[in-house]
Amino acid sequence: MFIFISCQVGFERILREEVGELYQFNGAFSLPGFVTFKTPDDLKSHESIRKIISDIANRSIFARTVSISLGKLSSDDLVKSVWRLVSQSQYFINRIHVFCRDRFVPGQHGFEPCVPVELKELHGCLTASSPFPKFLSSDAGQFNQPAICGETVLDVVRIEDDLYFAGVHFVTDDAPVHVCYSGGIVPIQLPANAASRAWLKFEEGLWWSKFQIGKNSCCLDIGAAPGGGSQVLLSRGANVIGIDPAKIAENVLAHPNFKHIRGRINQTKRSLYKNAQWIIADINAAPKYTLDVLDDIAKYNQNINGMLFTLKLPQLNLIKQIPNFIKQIKKWGFKNIKTKQLVFNKQEIMIAAK
Ligand SMILES: C[S@@+](CC[C@H](N)C(=O)[O-])C[C@H]1O[C@@H](n2cnc3c(N)ncnc32)[C@H](O)[C@@H]1O
Repeated sequence: MFIFISCQVGFERILREEVGELYQFNGAFSLPGFVTFKTPDDLKSHESIRKIISDIANRSIFARTVSISLGKLSSDDLVKSVWRLVSQSQYFINRIHVFCRDRFVPGQHGFEPCVPVELKELHGCLTASSPFPKFLSSDAGQFNQPAICGETVLDVVRIEDDLYFAGVHFVTDDAPVHVCYSGGIVPIQLPANAASRAWLKFEEGLWWSKFQIGKNSCCLDIGAAPGGGSQVLLSRGANVIGIDPAKIAENVLAHPNFKHIRGRINQTKRSLYKNAQWIIADINAAPKYTLDVLDDIAKYNQNINGMLFTLKLPQLNLIKQIPNFIKQIKKWGFKNIKTKQLVFNKQEIMIAAK
């Protein structure tokens, strides 16, 4: 049996190492943004492999989607061939996700991960020709609809113009939210008035972390300029203090709930942000710097509900230190710590600590 996993372009080797450490699976066919793994010969039970792919989806930092592979296909008679593979398997499909592998790093050449609308037709044909229509969920005919708990999802992934993979995954109640979306891609788009593309990662980050940032809550944004992350908080009705030596975009500065403290966090009086309940941080510095800054705040601020922050990975060997980073964060008293390379993160990871 094989499984396939999608990831950010450039992280295939990291993903192979991560999955190898979790389950000793060997990497097989791979292209940028897409890696297949051969499962050990003694792993024959579908129940075990089902549990394993859910576990990888939960624990992997770099896997975006994880599926049991049903096989690879060419574009010839694709729809029929997909259903033939499904019929040979033991799965009853409730919903179909159609997506493609990333071709570039997010933000490179204007690329942002998305499910191209041109795949709508394929989705429509697959849904309309299901040999088991009674198993399809009532809204399964709608393109790019999120899956719900309990569903078995057929994944059809376009790898090249003439190469597709078909697979399945399952939405369990403990599944991370990305599992519900085609290609693990939450359908958010950068608004025209966004101060920066950081808007995307913090919007995705709030959705992934499930942080409930309420109206009038007090938020601190460290490394706030030009202001995309702050806009995400402001859109929830929060009051935001943004600390950064750099300039904040005019439309963010003009927001009545936003206050800019122009300077570095380590040169800012702590009393100015002592009431912060939620902290986001996106500092272009080494992880150690960000963690030391947050360590200091965690010791001083008594009212913190949660922190959502990026750790930059300019050298990929920093990934080996992630377990130590988590150890340091645990000391701040957080009960729930999640780590993921979000769809809209570049060469960095997002941490949500609650
Ligand atoms: C990636 S940008 C932040 C983007 C921003 N979060 C947004 O949403 O638009 C990194 C920022 O970190 C800021 N920065 C670097 N060191 C800092 C420090 N010690 N204190 C505060 N900000 C810092 C930089 O000035 C820069 O604006």
